[in-house]
Amino acid sequence: MKTLFSGVQPSGIPTIGNYIGAYKQFVELQDEYDSYFCIVDQHAITVPQDRLKLRENSRALAAIYLASGLNPDKISLFIQSEVSAHAKAAWMLQCTSYIGELERMTQFKDKARKQNQRDGISVGLLTYPALMAGDILLYNADVVPVGEDQTQHIEFTRNIAERFNTKYNDIFTLPEIKLPAVGGRIMSLNEPVKKMSKSDDNQKSFITLLDDPNQAAKKIRSAVTDSDTEIKFDKENKPGISNLLTIYSSLTDKTIGQLTEEYKDSSYGDFKKDLGEVVKEFLIDFQERYNYYLNSEELDEILDAGRDKAARKADKMVEKMERAMGLGRKR
Ligand code: TYM
Repeated sequence: MKTLFSGVQPSGIPTIGNYIGAYKQFVELQDEYDSYFCIVDQHAITVPQDRLKLRENSRALAAIYLASGLNPDKISLFIQSEVSAHAKAAWMLQCTSYIGELERMTQFKDKARKQNQRDGISVGLLTYPALMAGDILLYNADVVPVGEDQTQHIEFTRNIAERFNTKYNDIFTLPEIKLPAVGGRIMSLNEPVKKMSKSDDNQKSFITLLDDPNQAAKKIRSAVTDSDTEIKFDKENKPGISNLLTIYSSLTDKTIGQLTEEYKDSSYGDFKKDLGEVVKEFLIDFQERYNYYLNSEELDEILDAGRDKAARKADKMVEKMERAMGLGRKR
């Protein structure tokens, strides 16, 4: 069986963009692969976090993974910092990475730009892709399902794996990226030319998975649309309505073609009202499952079992890496 790895940061509550780009794919793929899903808390601390909030978000994220429909009997769900192999791999891969290639990462450039002085930017923010490469390579992952914004990081992972294989020993599998057929990049509701992000200052631009369902429907009804009135998919010229069509299609499994046919005589207002209801119903069901997992004892048992299984696999790879680089005594 081939292996799958993916991760999500516990740096706040995930948005419906995260759901469509990541979780929905995880659920569709879980039966086909030996699957590892990680709550990447070590990634989250590359920017300042409140320690109590971070713990709370990590637990919430575990419940969110499960509420999305992952089957805990099949997959391994674990917290990154609880498997020490990740930090060890990250160090070895930092020593295999070059400053120039890390400085060219768009996510680093975007986040660094937000901090106004160089002293406010952690070294971890720069070396973050080496930690992410380690996450994936430790499990010999064949596929990594993610949204479009992670493409550059996966390419970096493949480059580092190849470099390590050539320089030291041929131990890593080169992972393939897996983007969703629809919804790899869900856009902001009020500025549909930029990505939907939970760290956006404007609360109206995103919907989180734990938003009040009625408020979420309201955000959809007030989403920015385009100047004409036609309900048509055209990302370039009609980014607002195209984004809403993508969300609608992803949450209902109706194709975009079916939706444009269904709504060809409707107004934007009617379309948004219906989509608002779709989002509201989706969140009501989602949050019911979320609350079940958050309050169940099962959650910690699932995370314990996930950690143990992940550690068994990752520790073996760390040993191979150390041997390849000549660290420690001969074993
Ligand atoms: P993160 O936590 O920012 O996002 C989690 C996942 O959600 C996807 N995503 C989106 N998809 C569609 N539309 C959007 N607007 C949108 N915003 C986010 C992301 O592409 C991602 O799949 N570096 C990663 C976490 C990570 C990881 C890994 C992922 C760490 N190690 C190893 C895969 C494998 C991140 O910051 O994702």
